[in-house]
Amino acid sequence: MSVAPPLRVMAVMGTRPDTIKMAPVVHALRAARPGIEPIVCVTAQHREMLDDVLELFGIVPDIDLDIMTRTQSLTDITTRVLQGMERALEQARPDVVLVHGDTTTSTAAALAAFYAQIPVGHVEAGLRTSTIAEPFPEEANRRLTSVLTSFHFAPTSRAKSNLLSERTDHAHVVVTGNTVIDGFVETERRVRAGGIATPSLDGLDPSRPMIFVTAHRRENHGQMADIARAVATIAGFPERPQIVWPVHPSPAVYPVVHGILDGVAGVRLTEPINYAETVAAVAASYFVLTDSGGLQEEAPTLGKPVLVMRRETERPEGLEAGTLRLIGAEYGDIVDETRRLLTDHALYHRMARASNPYGDGHAAERIVGWLLHALRSGPAPDEFRPPSAAA
Ligand code: UD1
Repeated sequence: MSVAPPLRVMAVMGTRPDTIKMAPVVHALRAARPGIEPIVCVTAQHREMLDDVLELFGIVPDIDLDIMTRTQSLTDITTRVLQGMERALEQARPDVVLVHGDTTTSTAAALAAFYAQIPVGHVEAGLRTSTIAEPFPEEANRRLTSVLTSFHFAPTSRAKSNLLSERTDHAHVVVTGNTVIDGFVETERRVRAGGIATPSLDGLDPSRPMIFVTAHRRENHGQMADIARAVATIAGFPERPQIVWPVHPSPAVYPVVHGILDGVAGVRLTEPINYAETVAAVAASYFVLTDSGGLQEEAPTLGKPVLVMRRETERPEGLEAGTLRLIGAEYGDIVDETRRLLTDHALYHRMARASNPYGDGHAAERIVGWLLHALRSGPAPDEFRPPSAAA
């Protein structure tokens, strides 16, 4: 009787957020040994921010393409990942390549796998906004990745519907929940258990509301001064909010934010903080002001409202659940909407009702189960049923 060889699954990641979201998948792949042989490949589109997350989640890459430069353009990232991945795939010979979401790492790695005729599994598949230009270039990235993908792991039923409406084969789309919740829930447990240093939160006054701020998206680069000026105004509100803002190292963000906010009372700018500290900061916040995608999914897990500094979101489930508000990135809107959320307690309590449409903490197990089902005839895992559909 012949025994099937282990399924060689390569997980590719390159930036901080895709690594946070792929880490639970790597853990689930490891747990499925010996039926699966995991191979971790990092492009290092980010360097320090990536290494920090790898360390937190105990992941040592098998392959590191080490592509980051301080002034990288999108073309630099794409070509360096494509060339590096060609060699990595030749060397590792995986049966399937997993990529995540919407980064340039993910699209270029998917293209490299497609050229090598290796099937692609797309984690966090099917998110869409109405325009290819927002967020830039992520919306184009995720659409391009979908075209190259064989196995689509949709976080929500809406994401699945998006894919089906693009004529994606129904048999190859599965709703798993979002792996970001797996990682967040696990990390929050570790934070609560103690032993994780949170220097960026030391000495905050618990009687004053804390607003956790992040901003880095390319389409907001031209708005960074507006966002920073708005934060300076907010810090002067009578509610005396305390702002904690870990500033992204990008040359389009860091000098602008520091130039405007250094020395402003009530504003604490920090270097990028590690993921565990980010989770602790969300937990300690009154609400979150951000243009991040992941925080829109994570903060509702802890019942924290999120003001989203974007005009479009690919995460409408959170708008419908009432935990997110889209406010754009103009000075006046940021100031007004923040004031409202600080002063209108009924609004705050509506937004703070904890309910998470994005996942139940078991997405990574479902992804691995589905791969074994599709490629090794294992049992099909149940799909994730979001709260509204589960009722
Ligand atoms: C990328 C992703 C974006 C994701 C974001 C999270 C694309 C197109 N964009 O954008 O979807 O939300 O990561 O941060 O893939 N830098 C460092 N050290 C680091 C990381 C970045 O110095 O560890 C600096 C470098 O100067 C680098 C710059 O930040 O050139 C920009 O990094 P890049 O990956 O090009 O873009 P992000 O804005 O981070």
